[in-house]
Amino acid sequence: MKLPTLPKPPVPKRFQDSPVPPGEPDKLTALEQVKETGIGAAAWVDERTSLAGGVRWMFFRKVPKGTNWFYTLGSATMFAFVSQAITGVFLAMYYTPSPTQAYESARHITNDVFLGEFVRGMHKWGSSVMVILIFLHMARTFFFGAYKYPRELNWIIGVVLVILTFVMSLTGYLLPFDQRSYWATIVAANINGTGPLVGPFLSDFLRGGADFGATTLSRFYAIHMMLVPVLIAALIGAHLYLVAKLGTTAPPWLRADKDEKLREERV
Ligand code: HEM
Repeated sequence: MKLPTLPKPPVPKRFQDSPVPPGEPDKLTALEQVKETGIGAAAWVDERTSLAGGVRWMFFRKVPKGTNWFYTLGSATMFAFVSQAITGVFLAMYYTPSPTQAYESARHITNDVFLGEFVRGMHKWGSSVMVILIFLHMARTFFFGAYKYPRELNWIIGVVLVILTFVMSLTGYLLPFDQRSYWATIVAANINGTGPLVGPFLSDFLRGGADFGATTLSRFYAIHMMLVPVLIAALIGAHLYLVAKLGTTAPPWLRADKDEKLREERV
C-alpha cells in the first residue's frame, strides 16, 4: 500500500528529490522505505492537526543576504538552555532541598550516582556557557541594530530573558549548600536589600523572611527548577514567534550599502 505523502516544502529545487525516470522500476531501498514511513506518519498527524503549515512557516524562511555565523548565537543560547533543562531534570532525581541533606545529596550525585559527576559538571559549566552565549547574542543583535523598529518588542523580551537567566544563576548557586554557596547567597540577598524602595522587600522575599534558613533553600529550589524555567521557555516561544514573523535583520554593512545606493539614485 502506498503511504500518503506530504506536499513538497518550498525548498530550492536542488534539495528536492529528483523524479524517477519513466520506465525505471518504482522499487524502494531500505532507507527510502524508512523515509516513506516517516513522511507517512507526519502526514497522518498533519491530516488531523494541520500543523505542517505552521512548521513550514517557522522553518522554511528566507534569510537576508549576508547572514553569517553570528546569527547562530541565538540558537546556541537556546541549545544551552535545553541542555540545562535536561541535565537539571536528572539532578532533581537525586537532589534533596533540605538544609541538612542538600550538601550530602549533591556529594552523593558526584561520588556515587552513575555519570553523576558528568551530569553535574555539564549543568555547572553549562550555566556559565549560557550566560556567555546570551551576552554574545545580545551583542550581535545590538551591533547589528536588530533592536530597532519593528523588533523592539523582541529586544524587550530578550532583556527579560537575560534577567531570568541571572535569576537562574543566583538561585542555582545556593543549591549545593556548601560554605561558598551559603555565604555568597547571603551577600547577594544583602546586596538586593540595599536597592532603593523595593530592595528590602526583595531580600525578604528571597530569604523567605527576615532570616536565612530552610525556607530560603526550598524557595530558591522552587524558583530555580519550576518558576523561572517555565517563564524562560514561554518567553523563548514568544521570541522565536517574533523572529519567524519579522524575519532577521540584514547585517548593517549590507544595509549601509543599500542606503548608499538609494542615496545615489535619489541624487
Ligand atoms: C534564552 C535566551 C535567548 C534565546 C534562546 C534567543 C534566541 C534567539 C534566536 C534563535 C534568534 C534568531 C537567530 C539569531 O538572530 O540569533 C533571536 C533573535 C533575536 N534576539 Fe534572541 N534569544 C535570547 C536572548 C536574547 C536577548 C538577551 C536579547 C536582547 C536583549 C535578544 C534579542 C534578540 C533580537 C532583537 C533578535 C532579532 C535579531 C534580528 O532580527 O536579526 N535575544 N534570538
